[in-house]
Amino acid sequence: MQDNIALVTGGMGGIGTVIAQQLADAGATVAVTYNKGGDHALADAWRAEQLDKGYDFSAFYADLTDFSAAQNLVDGVVDKYSRIDILVNNAGITADSSLAKMEPSQWHKVIDADLNSIFNVTRNVVKTMLAQKYGRIVNISSINGQKGQFGQTNYCAAKAGMHGFTKALAYEVARKGVTVNTISPGYVQTPMVDKIPSNILDEIIKQIPVGRLASPLEVARAVAFLAAEGAGYITGANLAINGGQHMF
Ligand code: CAA
Repeated sequence: MQDNIALVTGGMGGIGTVIAQQLADAGATVAVTYNKGGDHALADAWRAEQLDKGYDFSAFYADLTDFSAAQNLVDGVVDKYSRIDILVNNAGITADSSLAKMEPSQWHKVIDADLNSIFNVTRNVVKTMLAQKYGRIVNISSINGQKGQFGQTNYCAAKAGMHGFTKALAYEVARKGVTVNTISPGYVQTPMVDKIPSNILDEIIKQIPVGRLASPLEVARAVAFLAAEGAGYITGANLAINGGQHMF
């Protein structure tokens, strides 16, 4: 993917960082988005750490739950690089609670961050990809969008909705050289999974045939595969990377 421009949302997170590195290793120029509650010092520290490792990523602050902020972000990337070849919709959050206890704010926060954000970003990026007649869109969903999970009605609704979005958009852009796919990781060793109470996480790990959490690299490698030019006949697919925890 030499000369490709990639945009990775949530690119400073547990999985996002490794996705950005894998795309860069494959030759792409990578821009990441971050939110970090507006703490730009955290973003500067992340960039410095990546530079030390030999990765020169550009970083764009954006609240992707806001359509015009997403539009400004995409305009900024296109102004800087003139094109966007790869979009990885990776940004996401959890706010776990059983439905009986879930506040409306917990519902809306997760639907906004995990589902509405992919409309906001993709709606703006897809115009550029259609004009280029080339694009690779990879949406990072979750095993829990496929199987459900106690305490995650909000997250499961968003992540299942994401794959519906993938399939519909895959139809719309297939003739224009643009592919759209979903990856559904299982439980990956990240700060998001670290938040699960250890007794619950131990029970979850017992249900994983491979017997362990995934590493971020095991997800990022698949993103790089789907983002490559040679993956042009894979579209509308949902690739499970879950250690066998949910087979269908
Ligand atoms: N399955 C079945 N029953 C469960 C349960 C489960 N997983 N978890 C709790 N319960 C039961 C309790 O035993 C209890 O039963 P009794 O009332 O009979 O005693 C009852 O449900 C408690 O219900 P509460 O609403 O009071 O639950 P809680 O407030 O104690 O905990 C929770 C709810 C915070 C959601 C907790 O279950 C939890 O943290 N679960 C983990 C959710 C999870 O897997 N999140 C994944 C985050 S990582 C991620 O999302 C990345 C990815 O893509 C995979």
